[in-house]
Amino acid sequence: VWKMLTVAVCVALLGYLQAQELQGHVSIILMGATGDLAKKYLWQALFQLYLDEAGKGHSFSFHGAALTAPKQGQELMTKALESLSCPQDMTHSQCVELKGQFLRLSQYRQLKTAEDYRTLSKDIEAQVQREGLREAGRIFYFSVPPFAYADIARNINSSCRPGPGTWLRVVLEKPFGHDHLSAQQLATELGSFFQEEEMYRVDHYLGKQAVAQILPFRDQNRQVLDRLWNRHHVERVEVIMKETVDAEGRTSFYEEYGVIRDTLQNHLTEILTLVAMELPREVNSSEAVLQHKLQAFRALRGLQRGSAVVGQYQTYSGQVRRELQKPDDFHSLTPTFAAVLVHVDNLRWEGVPFILMSGKALDERVGYVRVLFKNRAFCVQGERHGTSEQNPCLPRQVIFYIGHGELGHPAILVSRNLFRPALPTQSWTEVQDRPGLHLFGRPLSEYYAYRPVREQDAYSILLSHIFHRRKESFITTENLLASWVFWTPLLDSLDREVPRIYPGGAENGHLLDFEFSGGQLSFSQQQPEQLVPGPGSAPQPSDFQVLRTTYRESPLVSAWPEELISKLAEDIEATAVQAVRRFGEFHLALSGGSSPRALFQQLATGHYGFPWAHTHLWLVDERCVPLSDPESNFQGLQAHLLQHIRVPYYNIHPMPVHLHQRLCAEEDQGAQTYAREISALVANSSFDLVLLGMGTDGHTASLFPQSPAGLDGEQLVVLTESPLRPHQRMSLSLPLINRAKKVVVLVMGRMKREITMLVSRVGHEPKKWPISGVLPKSGQLVWYMDFEAFLG
Ligand code: BG6
Repeated sequence: VWKMLTVAVCVALLGYLQAQELQGHVSIILMGATGDLAKKYLWQALFQLYLDEAGKGHSFSFHGAALTAPKQGQELMTKALESLSCPQDMTHSQCVELKGQFLRLSQYRQLKTAEDYRTLSKDIEAQVQREGLREAGRIFYFSVPPFAYADIARNINSSCRPGPGTWLRVVLEKPFGHDHLSAQQLATELGSFFQEEEMYRVDHYLGKQAVAQILPFRDQNRQVLDRLWNRHHVERVEVIMKETVDAEGRTSFYEEYGVIRDTLQNHLTEILTLVAMELPREVNSSEAVLQHKLQAFRALRGLQRGSAVVGQYQTYSGQVRRELQKPDDFHSLTPTFAAVLVHVDNLRWEGVPFILMSGKALDERVGYVRVLFKNRAFCVQGERHGTSEQNPCLPRQVIFYIGHGELGHPAILVSRNLFRPALPTQSWTEVQDRPGLHLFGRPLSEYYAYRPVREQDAYSILLSHIFHRRKESFITTENLLASWVFWTPLLDSLDREVPRIYPGGAENGHLLDFEFSGGQLSFSQQQPEQLVPGPGSAPQPSDFQVLRTTYRESPLVSAWPEELISKLAEDIEATAVQAVRRFGEFHLALSGGSSPRALFQQLATGHYGFPWAHTHLWLVDERCVPLSDPESNFQGLQAHLLQHIRVPYYNIHPMPVHLHQRLCAEEDQGAQTYAREISALVANSSFDLVLLGMGTDGHTASLFPQSPAGLDGEQLVVLTESPLRPHQRMSLSLPLINRAKKVVVLVMGRMKREITMLVSRVGHEPKKWPISGVLPKSGQLVWYMDFEAFLG
C-alpha cells in the first residue's frame, strides 16, 4: 500500500510540475493601477483570476504601473490592494493566506519612458529564468485615458513584447473614439502596433451575467424561440440603463462624450445586437458571433434626428462650469439622457421597435432588456376566476435583468404563460418568490425567474475570458466601426440640439416620458418652459408669417423641414387619390439624393390611404451603377420606401442602366427602352407628378449646366454626364418633365441658400441652370422649400 501510495504521489507531483512547466508564467501589467477603475474593479478582478487559476498550473506576477513615482505609487497601490475581499465561502484564514500570496506577487513600477518598458521586459525574463519557469505570455491592461494609448502601445510593441512561442494580449477600455472618423484613426494606430487577435476591447456590459446569458439562452431555448423571436410575435424590445448618479466629478470626460457615446453606442448597442442577430449554430464561436453581429448592424435602419429625444439634468451645466472653469453664462448642450428608436430592417424584425434608453440622475438604478410579445388572446372569463399564472391574456415577456432595481440582482425572467425556459442548472437557480414584489407590472410569481448561483462581477468574468482567450465577449475593430457608422449621423444631427432640462431623481415625474409613431420618437409632454434659453438667434416659424408665397411666379410652400415634408407628403397623396379616382392609376416619377429621403419615409410610415396598388413608380434619373449599389437612386427608393409599402412589382420601373453586363452603354439603348416603357404605360407620356430637386449648381434631375443633353429635342430619356462621380447618368429630359401634369421641386438645407437666391432672379436659361427650364406646358409647378434653403 505504501509503495503504491508513494508512486501515486510521485506521479501526481510530476504531473503538477509538468503542467506548471507546460502552462508557464503569466505576467499581468495593469496600467493606471492607482486609478478609479483599478481601485473599484480591476484589482479585485485580478485577485479573483488568481484565486481561480493559480492552482491550475500557471504561475503569475502582477505589475501595477502608472506614471506616479515608485514610492508614492507603491503606497497608493497598497491601499487599493488592502480592500480586496475574498469569496463568501472562503474561511478567514484561507483568505488571509491567499491575499498574502497575491500581495507578494504584486508590485508597483513606474512606466514612463521607453527605458522603463525595456527594464520591465528584462525583469520579467530574469524572474522567469531565476525561478526556472517558462514564460507563457503577458497581459497589458490599459486602464488609462485614450490619449495615452498610442505611446503605451508603441512602447509595448517595441520594447516589451514577450519572446517567441509566447503570447501578448492587450486590454483596452473605452472610449474608443468620439465618432466614426476618430474611432477609425485610433483603430488604425493601434493596428500598427498589435494584431487584431492580440487586442481585447472591453465593453464591461458584455461581462454582466444577464447579458452574457442572452446568446446561450437563445441557444438553449432555440426550439421554442425559433417560432417566437420575430416580428410576428414580438411587440417591442426595450434596452434600458437607468442611473441615479450624475456626472459630477467626471464632467471633463462627460462634456466631451455625453450619454449616447458613453453608453448607447457601446453597452446598449451590444445588447441590441445580441437580441437581434441571427443565432449562429455555434454560439461559442467568436468568429460566427462576430459575423452575425455585423449582419445585424447592416440591417439597422439609419437614424434620423427624429429617432431620438435628449435631455440634461438641471444641475449639469453648473457642474461643468465649476469643474471646467467655464464662464457664468455657459450652458452645455451635452445630453445626459437619451432615448432612441431603432429599427432593424430585415425579415425577422421589420416593424418591431427597439427602444434604447439611458440616463443619469433618473429615479432609479436599473438595467434590463425586455422583449415584450404580442398578445392575441381574448379571455372571456375574468381574472377573479381560475389561476392567473397561465392566463394567456396577461403580458408575455422575456427579461434579461442586468441588475439593481427592485430585484437587486441579475436575473432572467420569463412569463409563465409563455414557456418554461431551459437554463444551465449549475450556474442559474430559481429565484425564491418575494410576495409583494412586482416587476414590470406583474407579481414575481408570474415569472419563471432565475438568478446566478454565484454572482460575479463583470470585470472578473471578462478577465477570465481574456486569460482563456475567449474573444466572443470583446469588441473587434469591425464591430466597433460598424457601431460608429450607425451612431455618427445621429450624433452629428444632435450636435446643436438643445436638450430638455429635467430636475433629476423622482421629481422628473413624467417629464421624460416619450412615445413613438411613424419611425419618430418624441416626448409625450409638451416642452415646459425651458430653464435654459435655446440658441438666441434661432428664428421661430412665427417670424416668417409675411413670407411671399410664390417663387419664380409659381406657388411656393415654405416651412420647417418636418412640416414641409408632411405637407408635401399630404399633397402627393391628395394628387394620387385624385388621379386614381379619375384615371384608375397614378404615375409618379421620383428623384434620388438625400432631400427626398425624409419624404419617402413619411410616405412609407404615415400614409395609409395612399393608393399604392394603383401607383406606378418611375425614376426621374439614375446613376450608372448597378441597381444594388448603395449609390443607386433606386437603392434609396428601395431602402426608404419600397420595402415598407405594398406596390405591385409590375408597377415599379427602375431605369435600365445595367444591361448586357455593362453600365449605360449607348449601344444597349437603355434610354430608348425606358422612353418606350413610358410611352406604353403613361398616357401622352405625361406623368401625374414629377418630383425634382435642385442642385447647388442649378442642376435638376440629371440635367447639368453647360451640358446640352436632354434640355430640348425629341428624346424623352437621355444619357448625361455629371461633373460629380459617378459621372454617367440617365435622366428624363426637360421636354418630358414639362409634359407632366404636376411638377414639384423640393429644396432643403442651408447649402441651397445661394442657388435659391440666384435662381429666383434668372430668366429661362436652362443651359446655365437647367432648373430654370422647368416649366410644365400645361401642368402646374410648385416649389417646396424649407426655411434654411429659402432664408439661410
Ligand atoms: C460606464 C459609463 O461605461 O458604465 C458610466 O462610462 C456608467 O457613465 C457605467 O455609469 C455604468 O456601469 P454599471 O456597471 O455601474 O452599470
